[in-house]
Amino acid sequence: MSDVIISVEDVHVSFWQNNVGVYSIKDLITLRKSPFKSKTILDGISVEVKRGESLGIIGRNGSGKSTLLRTIAGIIKPEKGKVTVNGTFAPILAIGAGIEQELTGYENISMLLSLYGTHKKGGDTIKNIKEFSELSDEVLRMPVKQYSSGMAARLAFSISLANESDILIIDEVLAVGDQGFQAKCQEKIFQIKGQGKTILFVSHFPDDVARICNKAILLEHGKMIDSGNSIDVCNHYKKLF
Ligand SMILES: Nc1ncnc2c1ncn2[C@@H]1O[C@H](COP(=O)(O)OP(=O)(O)OP(=O)(O)O)[C@@H](O)[C@H]1O
Ligand SMILES: [Mg+2]
Repeated sequence: MSDVIISVEDVHVSFWQNNVGVYSIKDLITLRKSPFKSKTILDGISVEVKRGESLGIIGRNGSGKSTLLRTIAGIIKPEKGKVTVNGTFAPILAIGAGIEQELTGYENISMLLSLYGTHKKGGDTIKNIKEFSELSDEVLRMPVKQYSSGMAARLAFSISLANESDILIIDEVLAVGDQGFQAKCQEKIFQIKGQGKTILFVSHFPDDVARICNKAILLEHGKMIDSGNSIDVCNHYKKLF
């Protein structure tokens, strides 16, 4: 089995966005300007993650962190470059998008556990999710659209822990949780690390990244402007402000 679990090679991603340069119907009719323009979001990203490593992905808002996670998860297909993943992960929760707003907490748990195939194990899975999330029965019976962002993050992270995949992808979960939940998540992340799982960790808190990850990359306008030891890369990030 290859030592490299995730390989990202020269990945380019761009999106079509509204072209603010189109001011009038005349612009459109005369085709002087297209209503859309292509914007480069990831510009030649290359990174390798070995089994059991923890990679931190840091950068300002809009620098491309979540897009990189989505690309690694196979949700976005790069127009150039290649992503190879030699392991399993929970792609839906990985990017915090697996939670259905109209469904209750309990319904989301059942739906996602069946997607993972974890439901077959039965037993204590739901109990563990409930315990970790600290969400009450009453809350879990409510549709998620009525949850605060912290409550939704508690649910999402707790369900993702039930997934026994090799790679744990965490996008900002610590940012919305309260202090108690943040501390608990950090402890859990260290425990998961200790089990030899691979972690991709996106956060705006460089000290957390330095603590949790052995290496990190720094994105700026879709370009990787630094990579290496997480402490050095986090220090570089702090100097951006
Ligand atoms: N589906 C999309 N269509 C068009 N543009 C998009 C889409 N998703 C993201 N973008 C653009 O891509 C850029 C990078 O977004 P991304 O969400 O990856 O940033 P981020 O680093 O995760 O930011 P944040 O720290 O705010 O979470 C932004 O300019 C955003 O507007
Ligand atoms: Mg993001």
